[in-house]
Amino acid sequence: APDGPLAGKHALVTAGPTREPIDPVRYIANRSSGRQGFAIAEALAARGARVTLVSGPVALPTPPGVTRVDVETAHEMANAVAAALPADIAVMVAAVADWRVEAAEQKIKKTGTAPALQFQETPDILAMLGESPRRPRLLIGFAAETQDIVAHAIAKRTRKNADWIVANDVSGDVMGGETNRVHLVTADGVEDWELLDKREVGERLAERIGDAL
Ligand code: C5P
Repeated sequence: APDGPLAGKHALVTAGPTREPIDPVRYIANRSSGRQGFAIAEALAARGARVTLVSGPVALPTPPGVTRVDVETAHEMANAVAAALPADIAVMVAAVADWRVEAAEQKIKKTGTAPALQFQETPDILAMLGESPRRPRLLIGFAAETQDIVAHAIAKRTRKNADWIVANDVSGDVMGGETNRVHLVTADGVEDWELLDKREVGERLAERIGDAL
């Protein structure tokens, strides 16, 4: 088995967007590239953790030593996460769709009247882990916001029963980009990190995880 500060630990990471079908040829998604989640998975594996990476559709290679499970929808992601338990550490980085629609079985045709999509909420995977009897010992969520970033993250930490929330400002080109400016929200307070490469955010977070366990 590999050694390192996280040897013997199982880390579960979600990454990327989800894709919610509208009909057989159309879907709703978001701009997440998966880069931040993949960087975290790689940094955890490099510290000796056994890593399960549940990923939405992204164009990234699987990091060395990481077991990857590919999914499309929020429901599939929730099922894959549940199937991967138990875990010592969970880092929910995926930009999971908040809503899905009841997908039409056939391609929706243009009729002169725009179709009305009926949205339903998707399962909240982070909240599900937060209340699970198999809650990972260290549960970390992300909060991508375009305004009131830290206030939302503080509220989210409590609401979803997470240990830490990594808050990031996605009003610029963070989604899909190479760099990230994050705030680490823990029970002890808020740390503002400088603008960093997503790989560096992954390294620092993995180091903190090692210190915490
Ligand atoms: O509530 P909000 O979507 O802002 O929460 C973001 C955090 O919750 C992220 O860690 C994200 O991966 C997770 N999440 C989830 N399942 C959802 C929605 C969000 O795991 N359906």
